Amino acid sequence: MHSKVFRRENSTYVLQIFKEDAPELTVEKLNAEYVYLCRAYSAMPTLIPRQCLRRPYVGASLQESVLVKDYVPHRTELALTTVDPAELDATTRQQIAQFLSITRNLLADTSADQPSMVPDFIDPDCANLVIDIRTGDLKLIDTNRLISTRKPARLYAEGQVLDVTEDRNFIHGLLFRRMLFLEMKFLDRSRDDLMRDPAYARYLSRAGFETLFAASEAAGESL
Ligand SMILES: Nc1ncnc2c1ncn2[C@@H]1O[C@H](COP(=O)(O)OP(=O)(O)O)[C@@H](O)[C@H]1O
Ligand SMILES: [Mg+2]
Repeated sequence: MHSKVFRRENSTYVLQIFKEDAPELTVEKLNAEYVYLCRAYSAMPTLIPRQCLRRPYVGASLQESVLVKDYVPHRTELALTTVDPAELDATTRQQIAQFLSITRNLLADTSADQPSMVPDFIDPDCANLVIDIRTGDLKLIDTNRLISTRKPARLYAEGQVLDVTEDRNFIHGLLFRRMLFLEMKFLDRSRDDLMRDPAYARYLSRAGFETLFAASEAAGESL
């Protein structure tokens, strides 16, 4: 939505430019989020493609610059939302499990002074977290606009849960919805098991879980 991605035929790189309509995304934020992601997912060295920002002059804004990223060939049929897990090799399934485990721990970490951030893998097509068709490796290709756990963590500290029916909570609602779906699909976790998992139960009421399970079904992400 706020960026455009280009690739010359056969190139091993993509170029990404950022639109003027989102000035809050700055060079500093982009770089800091990339460093944060690489550290948070350091146990998965193949997850995050290399990227390098080319700035036309010292001090150029992000919107004047070009982000060069390693190209990751992927296919819609292999999107995590639609692919049959049985068709994936064991290594890919193991990487998905590891991604979910690290992300679950980031969500559950309410102890740190700084709230955690998790990547944006909530887009409808699941085109940000993909399987590399050459190697079968899981790849996080959208590395910007991380989702902060600040709000759910604050609610938790105040003894409240996230009201997922509120429009203003839709991003966190989508995040938990996608996470619960992936847990069920790739880790065979049951609804009851997820509802007892403190990583989620601290943020969601029983009704909240039910709302997200229903929303997941409605979005075609059902089991
Ligand atoms: N490294 C990459 N390799 C292949 N395709 C990419 C890569 N980076 C982005 N894309 C494609 O461009 C789309 C938008 O890029 P993304 O980084 O997700 O931008 P945005 O933050 O605007 O969503 C991705 O969903 C994917 O289809
Ligand atoms: Mg994206």
